[in-house]
Amino acid sequence: MVAERNMPPGTYDASARRTRAARIELDDGRPPRVHGERIRDALAHADIVHVAARAPASDARKHWDAIVRYVGERKPLDENAITFERTGRTWLDVRFDPQRQHTFRHSCTAQPLHTDGAYDRDPADIIFFFCERQAPANGETLFLDALELVFLLEREDPKLLEQLRARPVTFSKGDGGRKEATVIADGAESPVLCWNYYRTEARDGEERASIERFRSFLEERVVAAGRGLSIRLEPGEAVFFHDARTLHGRRAFEAKRLDDRLLWKGGLRLGRGA
Ligand SMILES: [Fe+2]
Repeated sequence: MVAERNMPPGTYDASARRTRAARIELDDGRPPRVHGERIRDALAHADIVHVAARAPASDARKHWDAIVRYVGERKPLDENAITFERTGRTWLDVRFDPQRQHTFRHSCTAQPLHTDGAYDRDPADIIFFFCERQAPANGETLFLDALELVFLLEREDPKLLEQLRARPVTFSKGDGGRKEATVIADGAESPVLCWNYYRTEARDGEERASIERFRSFLEERVVAAGRGLSIRLEPGEAVFFHDARTLHGRRAFEAKRLDDRLLWKGGLRLGRGA
């Protein structure tokens, strides 16, 4: 992946590549600054960084709060579950709640591939989750990085790729924000993605058709075909990723009771140098 960096926009060498994550382990004996700098360095070379299992901290949010301040500037992510307005709180819980299964945040259903910042005018550069409790079965987090996406589209549906690059789409979510962007744009180090099927507003039938075609492509040619990367986070593990350089989603999981699966999500902005 490093060799693909520093190329002019639009000339990425995506030949036969696959989405990968850098995997790092943190030594419990080191201070939060060392852990944070290690994660930040890893994110300078990889779109996805999987922080391997460690004993879950008794106050895990406080533990990660101390580390991530050395990765980037915190962007508050929490939103009101009904109005989607931002609450100003830094952590957003992604918890199974049998009473609130109408949202992906609380359901046990599969979540299609998307970027979190699709409807946000000022999105986080990095999204991260740590796992407090994993479901009894399944619940893997899925990733497809932008270079693999472009590679697959070039090979299997170049016309769709052309549409996704050419035509801006409007994304919105209640009071949470509204943005117009092309689904795939050129960027300095990787194509830049903006996608959330459920937040699209099509202006006409042609645009709706291209949105539906891309949704099917991701479901059938990527997720059902087992492409991309699947990470089943265990308690104590975390994953950090460049939101606009990857699509993420999840597989369905088994759950019955409140909090049978519980992830905590945060967002960061990177300053210069990462
Ligand atoms: Fe997400």
